[in-house]
Amino acid sequence: MDKFRIGIIGTGYVGLVTGACLSDMGHTVYCMDIDEKVIKDLKSGQLPIYEPGLAELVAQGKERGNLFFTTYIEEVTDNCEIIYLAVGTPQSLDGGADLSQIYEAARSIRDSARRHTIVVTKSTVPVGTGGGLQHLLAEREDNEVSFSYVANPEFLREGSAIKDFLEPDRIIIGSSDEESLDKMESIYRPLGVPMVRTDVKSAEMIKYASNAFLATKISFINEIANVCEEVGADIDVVVQGMGMDKRIGTSFLKAGIGYGGSCFPKDVQALKQLAGNTGYVFQLLNSVIEVNNLQKSRMLVKIKKKLGGLYGATIGLWGLSFKPNTDDIREASSLVLIKLLLNEGVKVKVYDPVAMEKCRLLHKGVHYCQDPYQVAEGCDALILVTEWDCFLDLDYTRILKSMNRPYIFDGRNALEHLKLRALGFEYEGVGRK
Ligand code: UDX
Repeated sequence: MDKFRIGIIGTGYVGLVTGACLSDMGHTVYCMDIDEKVIKDLKSGQLPIYEPGLAELVAQGKERGNLFFTTYIEEVTDNCEIIYLAVGTPQSLDGGADLSQIYEAARSIRDSARRHTIVVTKSTVPVGTGGGLQHLLAEREDNEVSFSYVANPEFLREGSAIKDFLEPDRIIIGSSDEESLDKMESIYRPLGVPMVRTDVKSAEMIKYASNAFLATKISFINEIANVCEEVGADIDVVVQGMGMDKRIGTSFLKAGIGYGGSCFPKDVQALKQLAGNTGYVFQLLNSVIEVNNLQKSRMLVKIKKKLGGLYGATIGLWGLSFKPNTDDIREASSLVLIKLLLNEGVKVKVYDPVAMEKCRLLHKGVHYCQDPYQVAEGCDALILVTEWDCFLDLDYTRILKSMNRPYIFDGRNALEHLKLRALGFEYEGVGRK
């Protein structure tokens, strides 16, 4: 197997996972970030994010001597023949993607490169960005230095990112340069998974279309769950029955209070914007976004109805991160709910196994508790916002006794509702009978 010297620009979530996994596969990896503190911390073994297994992989790479961290772009361009761009492409004010970091990173590679370099974009970028980056890189071409460009979108899920990198369903590589595609294939061949070789634009579109489709599935099933509530059907059985049709399957059909995170909300908006810029109105995505937003207010209305008003009530939230096994609270449903509840004059208590610190920076007027039991004490209602394991097997009798009123709202349909009801809870899920 060919071993390469690979650079990674950006040591955020995607960059760090990619760098650690590539070093695990035997390549020599230089991870670079302009944030001096992050690099200093990484050198001393401290990670900027929580991702199961990542700290161990980083430590192993450093010990093996094939994983390095630096703030100097020259250290990357001097050493590496392949450089991945893994910087952030956050949502800009108009809903599109803010590409300033990716252009800045490409510019720094262009200006400091010393040899032929393959520039690989891992970050999610709107279709057409690869063309812009290729123009920028081409400005530098001389006898010693030239560039080729590859789009290689990531499909990592937070919480299972290492497994997703090492055992993906497929790998997408897009380029107009066959030699670069061959090299990229040789990097990923040991993983033994299907690869799609294509052009840059199609590779870019595959990423957006995949995320938008998954978000559509979630909004679709949430609407079905809402209708189930109205007509008295049960979403769990409905999904089970639907899923037996092989064309449908059951994945990404878990009803709840909607999707969050750093990808779906941003990517769906960006695809809508991208289509809009061409003059095409992506009708379906408008609804996907709206349904996702409404899902949280719908939960609030339900709680209000059950409690007979919200003002002065005490409500506890179990979970803050946008999903389990991550401390990421970007676009998390918890943040929306906290805001809605505070605006109604509710006393809000919260607990999350890892995301409390991040939330504390955003919300001061919330009571941060030490465990799920403390959250429940004196509460009029509890809401399960994130289905962390630690909420799924508790002493619910103790919880019920400590509460002011017995209401529990399951925003993830993850609790054993029959058991809770038998104990005396007033349970409400999403579309669950
Ligand atoms: C997602 C994509 O899965 C990944 O391929 C891409 O690269 C980045 O975006 P991630 O944001 O880490 O990954 O989380 P994911 O597990 O996909 O969940 C996203 C959101 O959807 C979460 O808020 C989750 O709670 C919600 N969700 C997921 C549902 O509400 N129902 C489901 O059935 C599945």
